[in-house]
This record gives sequence, structure tokens and C-alpha cells, in this order.
Amino acid sequence: MSSTASTARTPSTRTTSAAKAEANAKADHLAIEPTILYFGTPVVLLSTENADGSANLAPISSAWALGHTIVMGLGAEGQTAHNLTRRPQIVINVPGPHLWRHVESLAMVTGRFPVPESKPAGMRYEPDKFGVSGFTAQESEVVGPPRVAECGLQFEATVARSLPDTTGDFLIVEARVLKVHADPAIVIPGTDYVEPAAWSPLIYNFRHYFGLGAELGHTCRSQTPR
Ligand SMILES: Cc1cc2nc3c(=O)[nH]c(=O)nc-3n(C[C@H](O)[C@H](O)[C@H](O)COP(=O)(O)O)c2cc1C
Repeated sequence: MSSTASTARTPSTRTTSAAKAEANAKADHLAIEPTILYFGTPVVLLSTENADGSANLAPISSAWALGHTIVMGLGAEGQTAHNLTRRPQIVINVPGPHLWRHVESLAMVTGRFPVPESKPAGMRYEPDKFGVSGFTAQESEVVGPPRVAECGLQFEATVARSLPDTTGDFLIVEARVLKVHADPAIVIPGTDYVEPAAWSPLIYNFRHYFGLGAELGHTCRSQTPR
């Protein structure tokens, strides 16, 4: 390890205590008790298959990728969790910011009948999620549930593992992506790379919808051709 790296990783005791004293003196953070902790994650739309073979569609924001696995947090009593524990195929569709009103039209509907008591007041049963939201169903290639045609990224996947979270309120699902579909407008021509400047996810930020701002820079691990 170089002496520079060593210095950078081991700040002197004097510096550490000086910084702590300064932070305490400022007391510029408030201890708050927010009802939710949605600090800004992309929205995805999950297509799953109902018992009668029709499709359910539900927005979530608790989703993130680890290699080709996508991890999701689902309300345990919702129709999506119910479907996935019986028919473990799914499409994870990623909408852009321009689709936020369509997404919002799915906020207060569930494909579960009767509507579970745990759902928020005003939630109603809706068997035709595509119809009510205006999204277009597009046939998938390797799984049963349809893709959402308007979404720039569509991941066909199968559930590799699912288990209840420690509260029992949620199901944590790990889905293995089998096939990726991308709108040609966001793909660098002739490559398998998404052009980050052309793609923007819809962000759910403390229950408000946002898009991305302009690029700030890129990590040294970026492999995007440029
Ligand atoms: C933008 C947005 C993000 C949401 N994020 C989640 C989430 O991460 N997990 C979840 O279980 N529900 C989430 N919901 C709520 C579900 O969409 C809602 O419970 C819906 O009724 C589920 O439908 P289903 O019961 O047919 O599966 C979110 C809703 C919206 C509008």
C-alpha cells in the first residue's frame, strides 16, 4: 500500500476528534421520525400471471439489481406476491419519467380479491390493470406474463428464491433475469450497452415522482463505449 493511500485511510486522531467536535457543535442534523424511508429508487412495473391466466400489473420501487438477479420487496398480501409464490415467472418492466401518470393510475388498485384489510383505505379490486392504466401488453419470449410495451427496459425473469422479511409484512423475492429487451433508442448502436445519456428511470422520491438530472460523471468501472 502506498504511503498516500495509508494516509487517506487512517486519518490522524487529532483530525478525527476535531471533525467530531465540529459536527457536534454544528448539530445540523435533526432526529426525525418519518413514516416512510423511500429515499429515491427507480419504479418498476411487475407483470405476473393470475390463476385464470390473465395478467396482473403492479408498480413497486423496492427493487435493485445484483448482477443478473433483481431483488424486490413486495407486500405479502398483494396479488403480485400471491402470484409469484404459485407461478414464479415475472417481467420487470422499467418505465421512463414520462409514464408517471400511467404508473400512478395503478397506485390504488389491487388484483387481489377480496381486497386485503392490510391495504390502504380506498384501495379497490381491479382485474384489468393494463386496461385501467393504458399500458399495452406485449407478448414475452421466455416467460408467460406479458411485457409492458411502453417501457424502455423489460426483463423477463424467473423467481430463484423468495422468503418473508423479518416482520412478515413483506416478501423478499430474488428473480433471475433470463432475457433483456431494450428500446433501440437507448442502446448504443451495434453494442449491448445502454446509453446512459439516453436512458432515464422514473424515480420514486419520498412518494413524489422525479426523473434524473444531467450526468455528473461516471465511475472508473464504466464500460460504456465513448
Ligand atoms: C410508485 C409506487 C411504488 C410502490 N412501491 C411498492 C413497493 O416497493 N412494494 C410494494 O409491495 N408495493 C409498492 N407499491 C404499492 C403497490 O403498487 C400496491 O400495493 C398495489 O396494490 C399492488 O398491486 P397487487 O396487489 O395487484 O400486486 C407502490 C406503489 C406505487 C404507486
